[in-house]
Amino acid sequence: MQTLTSNWEVSALVRQWQRDGERIGFVPTMGNLHEGHLRLVKAARQNTDRVVVSIYVNPMQFGPREDFTNYPRTLESDLQKLTNLKVDLVFHPSDESMYPEGSAKSSYVEVSTQLTEGLEGAHRQHHFRGVATVVTKLFNIVSPDVAVFGEKDYQQLLVIQQLVKDLNYPIEIIGEPTIREGDGLALSSRNQYLSKQQRAIAPKLYDVLSETRERILMQNMDLTDLEQAAIMQLEQHGFAPDYVAIRNAVTLAEADNPTDLLVILAAARLGQTRLIDNLRV
Ligand code: PAJ
Repeated sequence: MQTLTSNWEVSALVRQWQRDGERIGFVPTMGNLHEGHLRLVKAARQNTDRVVVSIYVNPMQFGPREDFTNYPRTLESDLQKLTNLKVDLVFHPSDESMYPEGSAKSSYVEVSTQLTEGLEGAHRQHHFRGVATVVTKLFNIVSPDVAVFGEKDYQQLLVIQQLVKDLNYPIEIIGEPTIREGDGLALSSRNQYLSKQQRAIAPKLYDVLSETRERILMQNMDLTDLEQAAIMQLEQHGFAPDYVAIRNAVTLAEADNPTDLLVILAAARLGQTRLIDNLRV
């Protein structure tokens, strides 16, 4: 496995592989890798000849009061995990090479459709602009044939699909299901911020989503009432919910028809830690 920090070296190596007729799979991450990330790598492996993983904590997608500085950085153990999975190339750029003038003075990419307006877009100002910009840069550097993202960040996955369509990237986007702990808690690098007590409460987020799904399937309650009920349940468990939203799973538009393909999305804070999760119906 090679580890490169320079954009030019990554582009040159990948282009060499492409000249040899190989298909390139790409998994962008912010590191601190867990089984959720590793599943994406395995999916990339299955679909392509060469796998590139990026590890970069992107300052542009964090708000001023978010956890950019404290975000866990564990490069050595990440590289070990990726070596075990026989990844071909890890791209680990510096802030200076990604944003030579600083991330506030960079050009940016904005997916400005109804996809980015609500939910995470409403609660994390400019978050998706940061994600779309860094993913565009990474796509340009790596020029993959396939890129793999997790359904854990459901809205992000849809935003990337929209970006690829709108900017005509010849890249196939694959979405992989959310990997969970035995008690239902979705794996996340942010779970390690939780105290023991908070960790015991955290799986209730998945429980509430599951219960909401059951109630939707029973079709005897208004969707807005179900959202409100889920928010109240989360509050009773000790969460401070940002939202619980039952949306059209393709457009994220408000769902007025329970027979649509739906997704339930939620974000809730436990102390300082903000957890997100979602469940398709
Ligand atoms: P990060 O949070 O490191 O996640 C990298 C990828 O792993 C994302 O596609 C995310 O959805 C996926 N992922 C995280 N937890 C998962 C789980 N429990 N099961 C399945 N997949 C999971 O998302 C980002 O980084 C950044 O926004 C990035 C796309 C790299 C741009 O900076």
